[in-house]
Amino acid sequence: MTVPTFPPGFLWGASASAFQTEGAADTDGKGPSGWDAFAARGRIKDGADTTRGTGFHERYREDVTLLAGLGADAFRFSVSWPRVVPGGSGPVNPAGLDFYDRLVDELCAHGITPAPTLYHWDTPLPLDEAGGWLNRDTAYRFAEYAGIVAERLADRVPMWVTINEPAEVTMLGYALGEHAPGRTLLFDALPAAHHQLLAHGLGVRALRAAGAANIGIAVSHTPVWTAGESEEDRLGAGLYDTLTNWMFADPVLTGRYPDEGVAALMPGPVEDDLRTISAPLDWYGVNYYSPTLVGAPRAADALDSFSGFTMPAELPFGIREIEGYEKTDFGWPVVPDGLRETLVQLRDRYGDRLPPLYITENGCAVDEAVADTRRIAFLEGHLGALREAIDEGVDVRGYFTWSLTDNIEWTEGAGKRFGLVHIDYDTLRRTPKDSYAWYRDVIRSQKANGSAD
Ligand code: BGC
Repeated sequence: MTVPTFPPGFLWGASASAFQTEGAADTDGKGPSGWDAFAARGRIKDGADTTRGTGFHERYREDVTLLAGLGADAFRFSVSWPRVVPGGSGPVNPAGLDFYDRLVDELCAHGITPAPTLYHWDTPLPLDEAGGWLNRDTAYRFAEYAGIVAERLADRVPMWVTINEPAEVTMLGYALGEHAPGRTLLFDALPAAHHQLLAHGLGVRALRAAGAANIGIAVSHTPVWTAGESEEDRLGAGLYDTLTNWMFADPVLTGRYPDEGVAALMPGPVEDDLRTISAPLDWYGVNYYSPTLVGAPRAADALDSFSGFTMPAELPFGIREIEGYEKTDFGWPVVPDGLRETLVQLRDRYGDRLPPLYITENGCAVDEAVADTRRIAFLEGHLGALREAIDEGVDVRGYFTWSLTDNIEWTEGAGKRFGLVHIDYDTLRRTPKDSYAWYRDVIRSQKANGSAD
């Protein structure tokens, strides 16, 4: 299999996030995040030292050199909110802003487009302690912070991402308690979804007011496959699809919730908020990892695993294992065509309302230190499926692989490796894997064929 040629101007990039790489130690005046507190409570499974991360805060120049060696057009990193506004509101930490200023300059000096995400899950701890995303005020604080970052960087940053994966934050952080802040509210978690969406809309407004342009959001999408033939299976899968895909995409792209029942559970002046949430976007980002097979709840579903943990049995749907596909080391099925399926589904659902798309994340956890042939096969398969979606008329403008380097995989710690570059967590030494050389060659040949630049 080889990688087909992509359209002219297609953007080739890699993604990463602050908590997973920078090191969460209170360097340079950074304040603690909800994730730092969660880690300190022993919630990282392998006890990885999240205060060091991959050492990105100190070694960012090395990583920019690695990006340049790849020939990457763009780097999607995240700005740590508690590094810039340690208290969540109030005084700005100048050293925090200076760090991103240096990082942006370093990227620009290498001809790499900086594409910062303003929220990749590291809520300032004081805001988390005041209810986090359950508290409407957090959305307003986010917009203030977004404006502060844009005031400083908009002159050099040509691409902005507001929020990363509000669905995961809602589900894992507030409904199931597997991620920070560790709340187990099940359906009472829905206000956290609404307030993140509101933060996105207010953030878009604040970014534009501060001179930023080319703004999008990164939303996770999974094609939901129905397990079984019964009406209960269909209902379970439909509800899951609503909760993970459309509850986030619909408000942003159409200004409506997909379901009146869901809308009724949302707090505040929902109709007014939806007008803010659906502020026009320049592009829409899709994070794709795998499809999900869902049916009616069954007693045995207490054993179903989702991202490696057990789902509560009282949920009105059950997630089943997808069989017949190779699995990543996370246990996620490798289904490249699911990427095509998701993209075509988005185009069909939204038509002209869908702005150009970027794949803002796609990658896999494989435990092959340097000779990572499984990652190469994964990426090759997904790029093929992406090209097919483009052939079917979906307007996709670029691809960011997850991730440049191995990094702290949230509660999984250092044990799940998603990088093109291997990190030795004792020495923080970086070693490019085979997939790094492969991706470099892909980018090179695309440019030689005229796809990029
Ligand atoms: C997140 C990343 C994470 C990746 C793999 C996405 O949900 O945005 O931070 O590392 O998936 O789990």
